[in-house]
Amino acid sequence: MAQQDDVFKKIVSHAKEYGFVFPSSEIYDGLSAVYDYGQNGVELKNNIKRYWWDAMTLLHDNIVGIDSAIFMHPTIWKASGHVDAFNDPLIDNRDSKKRYRADVLIEDHLAKIDDKIAKEVAKAAKRFGDAFDEAQFRATNTRVLEYQARRDALHERFSEAMNANDLEGLRQIIIDEEIVCPISGTKNWTEVRQFNLMFKTEMGSTADGSMTVYLRPETAQGIFVNYLNVQKTGRMRIPFGIAQIGKAFRNEIVARQFIFRMREFEQMEMQFFVRPGEELKWFAQWKEWRLKWHKALGLGDHKYRYHDHDKLAHYANAATDIEFQMPFGFKEVEGIHSRTNFDLSQHQKFSGKKIEYFDPELNEHYTPYVIETSIGVDRMFLSVLCSSYEEEQLPGGDTRTVLHLPAALAPVKCAVLPLVRKDGLPEKAREIVDDLKFDFATHYEEKDAIGKRYRRQDAIGTPFCITVDHQTLEDNTVTLRERDSMEQTRVSVDDLHKLIHDRVSLASLLRKLK
Ligand code: GAP
Repeated sequence: MAQQDDVFKKIVSHAKEYGFVFPSSEIYDGLSAVYDYGQNGVELKNNIKRYWWDAMTLLHDNIVGIDSAIFMHPTIWKASGHVDAFNDPLIDNRDSKKRYRADVLIEDHLAKIDDKIAKEVAKAAKRFGDAFDEAQFRATNTRVLEYQARRDALHERFSEAMNANDLEGLRQIIIDEEIVCPISGTKNWTEVRQFNLMFKTEMGSTADGSMTVYLRPETAQGIFVNYLNVQKTGRMRIPFGIAQIGKAFRNEIVARQFIFRMREFEQMEMQFFVRPGEELKWFAQWKEWRLKWHKALGLGDHKYRYHDHDKLAHYANAATDIEFQMPFGFKEVEGIHSRTNFDLSQHQKFSGKKIEYFDPELNEHYTPYVIETSIGVDRMFLSVLCSSYEEEQLPGGDTRTVLHLPAALAPVKCAVLPLVRKDGLPEKAREIVDDLKFDFATHYEEKDAIGKRYRRQDAIGTPFCITVDHQTLEDNTVTLRERDSMEQTRVSVDDLHKLIHDRVSLASLLRKLK
């Protein structure tokens, strides 16, 4: 675990050093859980968004996109339940004066028990070697069974308290389990209180009468309140989907793990409207499609898992998370929810406007059911960054830091490097850049030795380096160096476009989804 922590720290500093992610307002000592994307980060982020957007709107002829405003009528958040129920249970430690989410304290405690079990299993695996039967060990080892029973009982109690909104129950778990503040090390806890996560602000001047508005905590409601507009103007027939990418804001109490949990972040959400009764079929379909979208990136199939929710929100009849193996464990990157007709019905009730669909095949009016897919851009960015980062040992004892980014997502697709800064090589290199730049993000670099320039491109994940040397002037060939294998091949300048396109185009990634 400590080793993984070290790797994560290195990834965070690499992200800063190479212009991917900077702490917000850094020259003013930063702003907690808010980050800025730098010159390479914004390109990677835009490519992730483009991959999602195209997968939704180009590959499905029944999905269209919108871009709704961040400010919305405040009654929307009453109707959606966010004003009354979008809360986290918080608790303070009186000695350190630090504030925590009570549920996170308990989840961390559960994770510690999981770690103990994992350690026992790892120890036994080492002891027994190839003969080790993990399932049998877990079912029979007394220490593991004790830990597991303790964990299950605690989990059960925790779920009950969360589902019943039982704040005192949560506090009692923290007391009974003797959970201490990680800063002060004491058990001097306050009561648990509910804390609404929405940011509020005032719209309009006070003289005219102002109104309290919220920064949206999810983009989904912008889709629901535009359901009728899109369905009518787009002449959409059920089943159909509406996709949106945009900022969301949550006043997270516990903000940590870099861009994993932020106060300002971005979501890519799609609401798929279906006939009542068909929602579970579509839920299963979207679960499969979304996992395929993730796996097509080639970050490693074993790094994903579904986490099906057994306790559901009152309006949902199925829900799952797609979790990704981050350096700090498997974590939710995307949620897929079957939300029944809850949101549209609530907006119908609160707005007084009829929100229904006339189904010509059934000759029937109904309020559509909804399957939602909701993924955080920043978490997706983090999963791509973490799984691409490698400190690679090279033959001869050298090391290099390389980002094995999926080529279609890389911020820079190719770098053109004249071997020396004279003899007409820079001019020839510029000529190549001027040809490639219309189709690919292309860098030109002439400073430092060629090896150093390769390393700089490796560190930002550039799939190809093109080296222009004296031979180029004679036979119009260049060296094409591939990032992962570091293999160099001599190719004609005339073939560059096709060679690069085949590897880096978004279309080649999208084709894997068919
Ligand atoms: N409309 C449904 C919804 O918003 P959610 O599970 O609260 O569901 C969906 O959020 C996704 O948004 C999460 O899976 C995660 O990727 C991302 N997300 C949520 N809160 C976040 C935060 N504070 N920072 C970064 N990403 C966040």
